[in-house]
Amino acid sequence: MAVRDILKMGDPRLLRVAQAVPQGDFDSDALHLLISDLLDTMAAANGAGLAAPQIGVDLQVVIFGSRDTNPRYPDRPLVPPTVLVNPVITPLSADGSATGETPEEDDWEGCLSVPGLRGMVPRWTRIRYTGFDQYGDPIDRTVEGFHARVVQHECDHLWGKLYPMRVRDFSQFGYTEVLFPEIV
Ligand code: NI
Repeated sequence: MAVRDILKMGDPRLLRVAQAVPQGDFDSDALHLLISDLLDTMAAANGAGLAAPQIGVDLQVVIFGSRDTNPRYPDRPLVPPTVLVNPVITPLSADGSATGETPEEDDWEGCLSVPGLRGMVPRWTRIRYTGFDQYGDPIDRTVEGFHARVVQHECDHLWGKLYPMRVRDFSQFGYTEVLFPEIV
């Protein structure tokens, strides 16, 4: 268990497409150690989520979850603490199907790899996400709103995307201390 250094934007390791965790590596000491380090690192940084590439590990592993006491994201809905391995995201239409128009919504995001900044990012409003937990048990959830946003943000790290690459209106991108002086 250890708090690891978080890579910052500009590091080429954040731009890789991460490798899938091989089937035989579920419930292994190495995977449990990685998740332990991710949890410790996220907690130390008051993050709402963290992806393995952010600590330099080239694997499709993310963790996320919010507490009601997170000072970086006050007033946000709770998201269940989750370990998600080898995820697949499907955008859903307003009626919940995987076909048809998929609504988007804009909201502010930050990232531990982009410290001190926030930006307005469009994300799919409703998604289904599937994958596995660290034991290899399947996860299959349909979610919306903040939960859907967190999953899309974290999984983007696995495809080498950081949220500034998704910002469309750079008049809504700036320093947290200026945009949100109430957030310390
Ligand atoms: Ni991030």
